[in-house]
Amino acid sequence: MSKKNLYIFIIPFAFLFLLACKNKTTTYTIGISQCSIDNWREKMNTEMRHEALLHPGMKLIFKTVEDDTHEQIKDIESFIEEKIDLLIVSPNEAAPLTPVIEKAYRNKIPVVLVDRKILSDQYTAFIAADNHQIGEEVGNYIANLLKGKGKIVKLLGLKGSTSASERDQGFQSVISKYPQIETVYQADAAWLKNKAEEKMAEALHQQNQIDLVFAQNDRMALGAYEVAEKEGRADDIFFLGIDALPGKDGGIEQIINKKLKATFIYPTGGDKIIQLVSKVLHDRPFQKNNTLYTAVIDQS
Ligand code: FRU
Repeated sequence: MSKKNLYIFIIPFAFLFLLACKNKTTTYTIGISQCSIDNWREKMNTEMRHEALLHPGMKLIFKTVEDDTHEQIKDIESFIEEKIDLLIVSPNEAAPLTPVIEKAYRNKIPVVLVDRKILSDQYTAFIAADNHQIGEEVGNYIANLLKGKGKIVKLLGLKGSTSASERDQGFQSVISKYPQIETVYQADAAWLKNKAEEKMAEALHQQNQIDLVFAQNDRMALGAYEVAEKEGRADDIFFLGIDALPGKDGGIEQIINKKLKATFIYPTGGDKIIQLVSKVLHDRPFQKNNTLYTAVIDQS
């Protein structure tokens, strides 16, 4: 056989061989149902996209709502119809999202809950920092800062989301031991800056002495600070938040420019989520409940 004929003979086989190798990696379609659009979630999504590149065969499909529970239920229903291979979901509110998430799980779609929980154990795995523990840490920090005495305002995350209720339960478990720390105003500010601004304006109007504002995320803490600043009262009040995002407009920047007194790291953990998903998909051992770390960030 001439050299040319040999090539003509070999090339198609080499091509078929390469094609066969390529097809060996199964592609898994992973549906991601996000409950909000903000910097914290954008960071999580970017981390997931990057980490997925290191795990061949993962196709990520994002569906995102703007804090709208009914729309999120529809997104999950459509993921079930599309027969995705795994669902990652951060449930906006626990109770109304529990049935549709249980439905996905019953349909043999592995479910990985991130950041927020549902009201049932019908899920495959959960991953987030311990919100109850963060609440306790905030409580201890405040008790120390105020030396056991002062008037505080609480701006809570969306009622019905487990991160909000757990942060508050953890916080109260500590702060209730300090009878001279008095909550003079508290409101649901739905995790949003503009809602926090509205509520803070009301708190300032009602109370002529406020020593500290604890907002359950940095966005709400910054909103509260800005309103107090406009009223000329920001210097009399400590502002505390949660998330500690790096970068522009993040909580760390607000610590550096002294708008916030302290913030607590609430990791986005997108890389860890995909590593966990990979274990689930490939039947490797994993834990059902996975806790990410937290820490306080302040001037020190
Ligand atoms: C982002 C966010 C964070 C907060 C978390 C709580 O959407 O609002 O700021 O820490 O959700 O679930």
